[in-house]
Amino acid sequence: MIGRLNHVAIAVPDLAAAAKVYRDTLGAEVSAAVDQPEHGVTTIFVVLPNTKIELLGVLGGASPIAGFLAKHPSGGIHHVCYEVADIKAARDRLTAAGARVVGDGEPRIGAHGKPVLFLHPKDFAGTLIELEQA
Ligand code: CO
Repeated sequence: MIGRLNHVAIAVPDLAAAAKVYRDTLGAEVSAAVDQPEHGVTTIFVVLPNTKIELLGVLGGASPIAGFLAKHPSGGIHHVCYEVADIKAARDRLTAAGARVVGDGEPRIGAHGKPVLFLHPKDFAGTLIELEQA
């Protein structure tokens, strides 16, 4: 059911410093920072030949990554994003199998303007999974 790896997201305490490491030290193509107020994060995408890295920084007082950064003050891998052809069909199949969807279970428009859902890490090998309708 899942398809391509769309991106790996890394939550960081200092977005500018993380972007500099990827651009200057690792020599990658790095996008401009984009605030996502409805998601409580600022995102920078690192474009690699086969996938992307999503650098996530805190935006505002109720950011969903604040708790993660409290536990991982240097930053760390926050989620992986897999593509699916039909996000509602994927959700229905997963919930029928007992998996938990984070939030109200309805897809939201994610950082790429496409519908996304998050799956609970306790059901998926300890990893927060984002599904994105490709
Ligand atoms: Co993501």
